[in-house]
Amino acid sequence: MSQVKLIVSNWKMNLNFKEAKILVNNLKKINFKTTPPINIICPQFILLPFVSNLLLKSSFILGAQDCHYKKKGPYTGDTSIELIKEIGCKYIIVGHSERRQEYKETDKTVKEKVDLILSEKLKPILCIGESEIERKKKSYLKILQKQLDICVPKNLSEIIIAYEPIWSIGTGLTPSLQEIIEVKEFVYKFLKNNKNINKVIFLYGGSVNSQNAKEILIDAKVDGSLIGGSSIKIEEMNKILTLG
Ligand code: PGA
Repeated sequence: MSQVKLIVSNWKMNLNFKEAKILVNNLKKINFKTTPPINIICPQFILLPFVSNLLLKSSFILGAQDCHYKKKGPYTGDTSIELIKEIGCKYIIVGHSERRQEYKETDKTVKEKVDLILSEKLKPILCIGESEIERKKKSYLKILQKQLDICVPKNLSEIIIAYEPIWSIGTGLTPSLQEIIEVKEFVYKFLKNNKNINKVIFLYGGSVNSQNAKEILIDAKVDGSLIGGSSIKIEEMNKILTLG
């Protein structure tokens, strides 16, 4: 059985219909020699119904990259959780740093999304992460603690946390093994002691590729990864998904 439990593909605003079809068809051909990790594919919204169909009768699971924090209403350009759920998504990424930066999403908004997702019986994949300056100033644990404190409700039976240092996303830079382990242990401890959550699925995200996946995912003993750039390259995914 793979030691990696969960792999989330964050396609971001990439792939057209034709490219998505080719990628999914190739993903479905991967020869898993051991029990594969849970594989979640998160395409952009307009691709969701199309990819949902392509994934039928496969072990891949559909996810969304975001949702609105309200169930419905006058929110031009947004997508409701009702439709995300109806199309078959089981997981929703929330609090991604690209949304925090581009759309000024606050921890408070992220918390409202987490609450809505849980109330709809879907699973949030909550992203947390520090900036380069916060890492250099060594205030990163304080920042991560604040994000966890505001965004995570108490007494959940489990929660998925994706630790994504902002300075690592799309840059080719990754934290050291020790740095990932430090954050992982901090997150486990904080959520246990302050939120009464004993089951944390800890993902690492940020410049994961087939070259560094073994060290990051297996040696650091994280539960899986949130993968951006590499997730739309079949050769990369072939290697990452059959690790270990
Ligand atoms: P990356 O993105 O793998 O391209 O660094 C990760 C993410 O943003 O989730």
